[in-house]
Amino acid sequence: MDLEEEIAKPTVDEMSVRPNLDNYQEMTATFEWEDMYSELDWLPGGGLNKAYECIDRHAEGPKRNKPALIWEGKNGEQETYTFQELRRETNKVANALNEIGIKKGDRVFLFLERIPELYFSFFGILKIGAIAGPLFSAFGPDPVRDRLEDAGAVALLTSPDLRERVATIIDDLPALKHVIVINKDGRHENPPMGSKDVSYETIVGAASDEFTIENTTMYDYSVMHYTSGTTGKPKGAVHRHLAIVQQYATGKWVLDLQEDDLYWCTADPGWVTGTSYGMFAPWSNGVTQLIDESGFSASRWYEMIQRHKVTVWYTAPTAVRMLMKAGEDIPARYDLSSLRHINSVGEPLNPEAVVWGQGVFGQPIHDNWWQTETGAILIANYAWMPVRPGSMGRPIPGIRVGILDDEYNELPPGQDGHLAIRSGWPSQFHSYWQAPERYNSRFLKGWYITGDKARQDEDGYFWFMGRADDVINTAGHLVGPFEVESALIEHPAVAEAGVIGKPDPIAMEVVKAFVALKEGYEVTDELRRDLNRFARTKLSSAVAPREIEFVDSLPKTRSGKIMRRLLKARELGLPEGDISTLEDD
Ligand code: PRX
Repeated sequence: MDLEEEIAKPTVDEMSVRPNLDNYQEMTATFEWEDMYSELDWLPGGGLNKAYECIDRHAEGPKRNKPALIWEGKNGEQETYTFQELRRETNKVANALNEIGIKKGDRVFLFLERIPELYFSFFGILKIGAIAGPLFSAFGPDPVRDRLEDAGAVALLTSPDLRERVATIIDDLPALKHVIVINKDGRHENPPMGSKDVSYETIVGAASDEFTIENTTMYDYSVMHYTSGTTGKPKGAVHRHLAIVQQYATGKWVLDLQEDDLYWCTADPGWVTGTSYGMFAPWSNGVTQLIDESGFSASRWYEMIQRHKVTVWYTAPTAVRMLMKAGEDIPARYDLSSLRHINSVGEPLNPEAVVWGQGVFGQPIHDNWWQTETGAILIANYAWMPVRPGSMGRPIPGIRVGILDDEYNELPPGQDGHLAIRSGWPSQFHSYWQAPERYNSRFLKGWYITGDKARQDEDGYFWFMGRADDVINTAGHLVGPFEVESALIEHPAVAEAGVIGKPDPIAMEVVKAFVALKEGYEVTDELRRDLNRFARTKLSSAVAPREIEFVDSLPKTRSGKIMRRLLKARELGLPEGDISTLEDD
């Protein structure tokens, strides 16, 4: 379907109807996203821009002095910004970016710790109509280079420490014109200054805080997130400004955001949850959110909930399992009674975790399902709906979810198959950057094929069965085996590598590599350590293999493709399945 033809402009009011126990059936039967679009132009002067919906709209109205962002730094710093202050800060970034020649449609990447300037920069990029590409701050140089190169990024916003980590790649990227270095509060005494570098504090400090947002249309690109597939390097899933409509609606429908909420999303903006639900959903709803620069710590997380009186919390199954592991004595020391709705995404949420949540928080954890490509939540357990522990819940109004057989025909409830969504929802990705074939391959018979296997029960609840491909889900982060294999074979001792996900009680899966060495190399503890170090430096500890097993050779098809499925079956002691294409050696 051509969305450009089908969809006119969205309105806010109709979307404020929330599904509930009484109206869900009727709403899912009758709700059409297209009906929500009217002549209303959200952006003054016409068009649609996420930055206006999230910031300026509130800064111009009664919420202007309401805190939008409450930040806790890793050194105990605390900063609060109202919607009005966010507007000024983002305006300054927008002016500074324009000043150095960045324009509409340019790709501008962010490689930053979770500091307020990340958020100012992100929305500054959107205000000038450029495309924001956030990167996970734990990445090593290879993933950063691959993504900037593929996107033809013209600018990178980063911090002195992260700039240093990827120093070797900057000159390899001819399209990259500017490295904008943010030295928050002078944290770094002597920030590096290469020939492409400019200081954020200098250019933003000199910029005006008045700015007229570029009048982007709903079809203009806003954000790109790289996501992993089975083959090839990660691809940039590109979203349009239009996605805000569904991010806004699901903020109400699923996260149940209300005017006085204090919302906390623990995801990093380098991943899609950290933008769709760590920026767009709460702020388009005018809700105050907490941003924590530090990583996971059970006691500190409970303390944050208590001190900030967090009401709505969005986290991930791995984090929940880590909290479970830390025991129930710790939460008993805190007052967690402010919490009224807890959500999780990214991996299957074990039924035990739902039950555990009931004990510790006095309420279940609500699992929901979506992907980088879907841009927003599509299947959810709602606050008002009885949770079936282990289920991802039921579809949001306005979309159709199907379970398909291998010919992509719909199956009845009760059978396992490919989880697919009828194409045409507002936050649907619009391309993989410069990879049209890969994009087209995801759409068959009018369905978007998610790559997941699932089952629907008689009552319309969906149950996750597993991935249909080799993509690894480690702690909620998708890792493409090819990306890891490519990094490993750059080591001088490695002849070939095959990478799989190995089940893990906390992270769901960990990355395991099987490595065959080149002639003349021997397996030693030193080589093992060196290879581990090599992978972690190039990739990041989040993506690098947790386990490396040396083998004489890897099972391959006759056409030379490494049979990861067979490696996995052998690892798990499962039947080897069809091995008729296996190369004999
Ligand atoms: O395999 C599914 C898993 O995470 C994939 C999407 O990952 P990503 O694009 O990185 O986006 C993550 C955050 C939205 C899915 O294809 N996944 C996501 N949510 C669930 C899940 N698996 C099981 N249950 C879920 N609730």
